[in-house]
Amino acid sequence: MKITVIGAGNVGATCANIIAHKALANQIVLVDVKPGLAEGKALDMWQTAPVNIFDTRIIGVTNDYVATKGSEIIIITSGVPRKPGMSRDDLIATNAKIVKEVTEKAVRYSPDAVIIVVSNPLDVMTYAAYLAANKHHSKVFGMAGILDAARYKSFVAEILDTSPRDVQALLLGGHGDTMVPLPRYTSVSGIPISQLLNQDEIDRIVEKTRQGGGDLVKLIGTSAWYAPGAAVALMVEAIVHDQHRIFSICAYLNGEYGLSDIYLGVPVKLGRKGVEEVIEIELDKDEKKLLNDSANAVRDLMKTLDEMKLF
Ligand code: LAC
Repeated sequence: MKITVIGAGNVGATCANIIAHKALANQIVLVDVKPGLAEGKALDMWQTAPVNIFDTRIIGVTNDYVATKGSEIIIITSGVPRKPGMSRDDLIATNAKIVKEVTEKAVRYSPDAVIIVVSNPLDVMTYAAYLAANKHHSKVFGMAGILDAARYKSFVAEILDTSPRDVQALLLGGHGDTMVPLPRYTSVSGIPISQLLNQDEIDRIVEKTRQGGGDLVKLIGTSAWYAPGAAVALMVEAIVHDQHRIFSICAYLNGEYGLSDIYLGVPVKLGRKGVEEVIEIELDKDEKKLLNDSANAVRDLMKTLDEMKLF
């Protein structure tokens, strides 16, 4: 299994590191535009192999897509990250061009790869990669639902003083302020969250989740990477081991949830072939409205992508 990670920034390097530690690939190629960055980080990670005991050969290259040839999974993290005060949407003009370019180059050398997009604004960048890759939509999707759900679960675990591993949760919608955490689909070891927390506490957790990425940007001065990198690695694991796992990712909708021709966070079954199935869960009137509002926010941003006339 050969995996290419494009972008050797914090998110790209972190997910490469976790993929190596989880022994999900025998080769990882880290690519960056900045000379020396991917080479240096890859070398540093490779030198942890004798200490942390893994076999994955990690190499870094500067813009050399020949080295990525024959990858089965391509992870796109390229683009500028957020600075304090910026929304994910402010990044579109710069990142759309970058995502288009790197996707086209990578697909040329790995035409059969599954593509995972991480660049922001996520839902629109995943659409841009889909257009640039010219592949079936089941092979191109984005990471966000696992990250947003992880933040949500961590807040639930914190307030209940319980293990995060016992918290189950589902989120829908775009990876932004309009994301839709679903308390009705949240439980702790099977116990509905409504029996453990009052409405005020649940509302606060939902809000904290929506602001989760932004709060980290304020604290660190740039986007987060540990949880995003770990979330990507979980998707890679589901693909590599053909686990048919169910979790929310940014997937193409073709009529599901009454929405078409849009990439949005929804639960899917994920395995070796990519998205095997989009799972339509039952939503009440309020949840449906929130999902539609989120889809509209993504569609607004899609207009900006259309106006750029990149495709
Ligand atoms: C975040 C970025 C990765 O939510 O979008 O932290």
